[in-house]
Amino acid sequence: MSKSFDPIWCRRQFPALAREMTGQPIVFFDGPAGSQVPQRVADAVSHYLVEMNANHDGVFATSRESDAMLRDAHRAVADLLGTSDPGLIVFGPNMTTLTFALSRAIARTWSGGDEVVVTQLEHDANYMPWVLSARDAGATVRHVGINPSDCTLDLDDLKGKLSSRTKFVAVCAASNAVGTVTPFVEVAKMAHDVGALVFLDAVHFAPHLTMDVDTWGCDFVTCSAYKFFGPHVGVLWGTHEQLETQTITT
Ligand SMILES: Cc1ncc(COP(=O)(O)O)c(C=O)c1O
Repeated sequence: MSKSFDPIWCRRQFPALAREMTGQPIVFFDGPAGSQVPQRVADAVSHYLVEMNANHDGVFATSRESDAMLRDAHRAVADLLGTSDPGLIVFGPNMTTLTFALSRAIARTWSGGDEVVVTQLEHDANYMPWVLSARDAGATVRHVGINPSDCTLDLDDLKGKLSSRTKFVAVCAASNAVGTVTPFVEVAKMAHDVGALVFLDAVHFAPHLTMDVDTWGCDFVTCSAYKFFGPHVGVLWGTHEQLETQTITT
């Protein structure tokens, strides 16, 4: 059964849209940046701070409530990302910080002669962490270009840059700058064929398309809740094997 879309009702959910500046209603032209927050999200954050706001694993009521809320949050995000295991969801301050932390853990396994692949479609958050970690490990960074006519990822260039030396491929699911959706399932397969790990930046993808991380074949997938009406919280999913290996805690 289809429901009609009611933009007036939708607008009412977002208090920020009622703001004025110099007596005028304001318009948010920040499509590739963060979304506004509906009242129910503001209420949920406020409810947490007022009713719980406790440290993890305590024996007192607010700690138990806080942990229960956190378990619910893991389940909700697992559902959004398309994984059956909420234990594979890691929260962090934002996607960039999570990626820096993970890059430092993974780079401990890299050394001279190893190669790390990044692409020209990446946001800086899926570029600098890998470039800096590769530099510190003595690994070489290989850059994959785009097809300039339509800003799609140049898969031939990627193919030419993958080899038995490739340890890691960082790629976006969708570009926030130009909107290109990458064939990331194919990219993951190409990378795995040479024995490399695959890190997928789905920050721009998550608010627009259905996530199905359990079937995508990547090792890590990230997104960021402020792109889909949440607070600025980073989300990382990883395979069980990789999260155990890289000692990231949830
Ligand atoms: C594609 C993409 N990746 C990563 C990020 C960084 O996300 P965060 O602000 O959570 O660090 C952004 C933010 O705009 C983005 O658009």
